[in-house]
Amino acid sequence: MKPLAILFATSEMAPWVKTGGLGDVAAALPAALRRAGHDIRVLMPYYPALAAVFPDATVVAEIPQLARHLPAARLRLAVVDELPLLLIDCPALYARPGNPYLDAHGHDWPDNVWRFGLLSRVAALLGQVGNPYGWQADVVHANDWQTALAPAWLHYEGGAASVVTVHNIAFQGCFGHDSLAGLGLPEHAWRFDGVEYHGTLSFLKAGLQLASQISTVSPTYAREIQDEHFGYGLAPLLRHRAGALRGILNGVDTDIWNPADDPALAAPYAANRLAAKRTNKAALQAAMGLRPDDDRPLFGVISRLTQQKGLDLLLTIADGLPHLPAQLVVLGSGDKAMEAGYRELAVRYPGEIAVRIGFDEELAHRIEAGADCFVMPSRFEPCGLNQMYSLRYGTPPIVRATGGLADTVVDVNDETLADKTANGFVLDSDTPHALWVAMMRVAEAWQDRRLWQRIQKNGMRRDFSWKHAAADYLTLYRDALARPA
Ligand code: ADP
Ligand code: GLC
Repeated sequence: MKPLAILFATSEMAPWVKTGGLGDVAAALPAALRRAGHDIRVLMPYYPALAAVFPDATVVAEIPQLARHLPAARLRLAVVDELPLLLIDCPALYARPGNPYLDAHGHDWPDNVWRFGLLSRVAALLGQVGNPYGWQADVVHANDWQTALAPAWLHYEGGAASVVTVHNIAFQGCFGHDSLAGLGLPEHAWRFDGVEYHGTLSFLKAGLQLASQISTVSPTYAREIQDEHFGYGLAPLLRHRAGALRGILNGVDTDIWNPADDPALAAPYAANRLAAKRTNKAALQAAMGLRPDDDRPLFGVISRLTQQKGLDLLLTIADGLPHLPAQLVVLGSGDKAMEAGYRELAVRYPGEIAVRIGFDEELAHRIEAGADCFVMPSRFEPCGLNQMYSLRYGTPPIVRATGGLADTVVDVNDETLADKTANGFVLDSDTPHALWVAMMRVAEAWQDRRLWQRIQKNGMRRDFSWKHAAADYLTLYRDALARPA
């Protein structure tokens, strides 16, 4: 089949700019499609973190001012492992330190509408004939609200087919009516079947309405977001577009997340060499100031600390953990009250509970390897990557039955043990009590080392590589081409 020209537009990409799973996906999926022989190029802002790594990125096009509030910019090119990165150099919008979405006080940057408006606009431009870069995408693939406005220009002005992937529907990018003109969108786009959404201009709604095809990051989440509870207001639109919507489960980068060859670990291990996992537990206990013994399970958490992740549930019951008995290690940041709650918890139980507030990629690997069980009681989880990392690392997860968690974790019971699918512990309600019961089940199962190893091995055997997902995205692109917006 003829190779496709695909533009993958994103607001983050690991390892340079990452606040969550989108960064990991943006690093892995385009690389997988490149390897499959397609001409995929990644588009994102030339953030300071990227300017520092690629100071000499070649200027490949001058983008003129395209609307009142979208300043002129330069398009730069850096190539990493044969994957072209197109970087929008516009210092007025992107040359600022820190988080791509938030200022130092945790508030949205006040000009996010223009920052991600320009990103979306340039994404659309590169799908249109006669653009200044001289390469035209067949398919523009937008990810989350920050790029989801791209299909609007392609719809109103013509150009490439478009795809929007929802990584998290809770973030929608809603702004005032006046932004329509500032972004250079036509007044007639202000319609219920255009970009308008309850009196705002919504980037995500526009994309879901106008893209040729829509996807989200797990089959279960694709169903859930058509339901009022999970749809954050967009369920009726998604039901209307159900024929164009599908769920494609994310893969994980099996080179970066590989316990047999992970430079962050104290000792490598694999399903047939599980004993060495203990060395990692001891190293983690030592590094985090936990009491060094292996007579009780060590629970691990790596997460944004938000309502979504359900870590308030864990906070509610955590005082019981030392008596279970169990230890806990938490790495995360986010909600300030939750950060404070976890800090205080660690102060109350020195040696038993350790908490690190912050973002630390290397420690994340050490926790995956050193913990016995990973805790992820999310209220909703479009896909979730950490439960898959945990399964690969022989660290069976406790999860809620939602989104990608429901699609990857199989609860331990007689039947699933018999058919060798049991790989974790699943809660069906989001109460502290349900989480407590699951943690007690873990503490008991963990004491039975043979049983525990069976559960570990079931998870470690499963294939979470990008191979399958990459093929599904190609089908999605071809469907988009067959049915332009
Ligand atoms: P989400 O994108 O909703 O935050 P995912 O599970 O898809 O959830 O992805 C989270 C990613 O971010 C994982 O790669 C995880 O290891 C990483 N991560 C989250 N918090 C931290 C942290 N405090 N330190 C290091 N890595 C983190
Ligand atoms: C979002 C979701 C997470 C998903 C990630 C990558 O951040 O919250 O569940 O894994 O995107 O698709």
